[in-house]
Amino acid sequence: MDILRAENVSFSYRSKYQTVHAVKNVSCSFERAHSYAIIGKSGSGKTTLLSLLAGLELPSEGRVLFDGKPTSQMSRDAYRRDHAAVIYQSYNLFPLLTVLENTLYSMRLKGIKGREAQERAEKELFAVGITREQFRRFPPQLSGGEQQRVAIARALAAGNELILADEPTGNLDVSNSDQVVSMLIRLAHEEGRCVIIITHDLDIASRMDAIYTMSDGSLEQTKAFD
Ligand SMILES: Nc1ncnc2c1ncn2[C@@H]1O[C@H](COP(=O)(O)OP(=O)(O)O)[C@@H](O)[C@H]1O
Ligand SMILES: [Mg+2]
Repeated sequence: MDILRAENVSFSYRSKYQTVHAVKNVSCSFERAHSYAIIGKSGSGKTTLLSLLAGLELPSEGRVLFDGKPTSQMSRDAYRRDHAAVIYQSYNLFPLLTVLENTLYSMRLKGIKGREAQERAEKELFAVGITREQFRRFPPQLSGGEQQRVAIARALAAGNELILADEPTGNLDVSNSDQVVSMLIRLAHEEGRCVIIITHDLDIASRMDAIYTMSDGSLEQTKAFD
C-alpha cells in the first residue's frame, strides 16, 4: 500500500486583493522504499504541494492521506514529529541553538535522549560532512551549504519513514550534492523509507525511481517504475 497519497488536491492562497490557485486538482501516490523527484518551473506550485504533503497546509479541496488516514484528521504537529521529516528550502534551523542542539531537537520531540540521541546526531552530522569542530557553532556562523547539510542531518536523525525535501541540494557543490542524493536514495532502497525531493536539477531527478512534473499547478508523472 502507498504510504502517502494526494487525491484531487487543490490549494489557493487567498488575500483581500487576489486569489492564487497554486495547486490544481493534483493526484499522486508514493510508496515506501522508493525515491521520487518533483520537478517544474519556478512558481509552478512545487513548494505548495510539498507543504500539503507535509501537513503544513490543508488542501482547499481534496485530501492528503498518510497510511490511509487524511491529514485533516490528524494532529499535524504529531504527523511531522512521528512520520514526515521535512527539509525546508530555507533550512529553518534555530539560530540560537548550536549545530548539535539543532540536530538533537527533532529527537527530543520524540523522546529520544541521552547517549542514543548524541550518537545518532553525530552519525548523521558526520554523514553529511559536518566536522566535530562545527558542532558547537551556531547556524549563522556556517555557510549556506553547511546549513543545508545540518538541516538534512536534523531531518534524518529522527528516523521518520517519510522524507520530504525542498531543493535539498540547491546550495551544495557537485560533490556534496552527489553525496546527499546518494544518501537519500540509500535511505529509500536500504531502509525502506519514502523519499520525495523537489529539484530543478534534471541529473538528480533522473536518479530517482519516479519523476512527477509540475506545471502551472498541475502535476503529471513523467517517469514511472515497474
Ligand atoms: N504565501 C503566498 N501567498 C500568495 N501566493 C503565494 C504564496 N506562496 C506562493 N504563492 C504563489 O503560488 C504559486 C506557486 O508557488 P510555489 O509553490 O512557491 O512554487 P514553486 O515552489 O514551484 O516555485 C506562485 O504563483 C506563487 O507566487
Ligand atoms: Mg519552491
